[in-house]
Amino acid sequence: MSSFIINGGKRLRGEIIVGGSKNAVLPIIFASIMTEGVSVLRGAPDISDVRVALGILEDLGAVAWRVGDKLYIDTTSLRYTPPRECLVSQIRASAYLLGACLARFGEAELAPFGGCAFEHRPIDMHLQAISLLGAEQIGSRFLAKKLHGATIIHKTVSVGATVNAILLATAANGTTRIFGYAKEPHVILLIDYLRLAGADISVFDDYLLIEGGAPLVGAEITVIPDMIEAGTFLALSLATDSELKIVGASQGELKSFLAVLERGGVTVVCDDDSVTARGKPTSPLEVITAPYPEFPTDLQPQTAALMSATSGGKITEGVWRSRFGYLNELEKFGVRFSRDGATATVYPSRLHSARAVATDLRGGAAELILALLTSGESVINEAQIINRGYESIIKKLRAVGAEIYEI
Ligand code: EPU
Repeated sequence: MSSFIINGGKRLRGEIIVGGSKNAVLPIIFASIMTEGVSVLRGAPDISDVRVALGILEDLGAVAWRVGDKLYIDTTSLRYTPPRECLVSQIRASAYLLGACLARFGEAELAPFGGCAFEHRPIDMHLQAISLLGAEQIGSRFLAKKLHGATIIHKTVSVGATVNAILLATAANGTTRIFGYAKEPHVILLIDYLRLAGADISVFDDYLLIEGGAPLVGAEITVIPDMIEAGTFLALSLATDSELKIVGASQGELKSFLAVLERGGVTVVCDDDSVTARGKPTSPLEVITAPYPEFPTDLQPQTAALMSATSGGKITEGVWRSRFGYLNELEKFGVRFSRDGATATVYPSRLHSARAVATDLRGGAAELILALLTSGESVINEAQIINRGYESIIKKLRAVGAEIYEI
């Protein structure tokens, strides 16, 4: 357990360098189970989700170590052991054990995969892909006696189901086509890693084509900067009337987020590897979340915090229809809102410091924005949830002038 104590109301100044992407590094860590040899992940963030994932791999016999910003994972000698519940229940990405372990060992376990509990998170599409590729489910166990290529048509866009389908199809003999796949930059980076490891994967607009069955060896790849971390700091900068330069932010990946800000009256200045946002939104922000390249659901709570501090706005959730539980915690800071199904309206609000609880990773980040913008002392309990996805957040915020510490 940890708490963040924040003495807010200060304008922040300087540069923040974005860390490696959580949702990019995790699938690659689990995919390394399918390779033999040493993989090198440059720029892998040192966050608690990564440490938990490495603990799961170490139980399987992997050896992991860091040198500078490089994370090395040696998966030469692995043997299957059912994952420990105390580890898999901490992170959502442990669901990737299904594809990775079936591919490497021919067996896997259905376990209580964790992650932010803002909504029921089904895995029916993961299971459908696994079954189509030839694995058999017996109770909570899966066995892959004879994997084969298949045509997989996803009913909705799912990052997790796409990742599991890619992992298993890479091991299955024959041709697999995955229609309706998730196009997030982190999914494309996983494909890059698997290709470097020896997989035959082609990316088309409508589908992925995988010729499976090739042996995979360890590969070296650079983890892309975290676009959600970048967007979080841009929202913070605008909400606190600061002018933070966010280094490592990709204008291309943040296009839909930046477009919403610009339509609201914000000036966005981009150069090769940084983004700065200036001014405050002057008209209500309109957000509709949807799979990439549309507005990311993982930036809607932080944008709600920004709305409450400025011109208000409306959010329609197209990915997690009830991802609004965090608004009850934002209310403690004075945020006014109303909700109607998958839509929330956030009103310009008279904000003040508060004691709140981080409900989930991005909801916690939204609370942090409000704590930093309001004068006086705020406390965010259960702040370890924020550390799951934001590398060295206290250090980064202090370096730009924030008064924040962790107990
Ligand atoms: N869905 C199904 N069936 C499935 C899988 C998903 O119906 O078998 C639905 C979900 O209910 C949801 C939609 O598909 O409505 C999208 O879910 P997805 O599978 O894409 O989510 P995920 O893979 O569980 C990842 C990120 C989340 C992010 C979502 C959407 C990781 C570890 N997690 O989750 O990130 O919100 O994609 O982009 O990559 C976060 O970082 O804070 C976070 C929650």
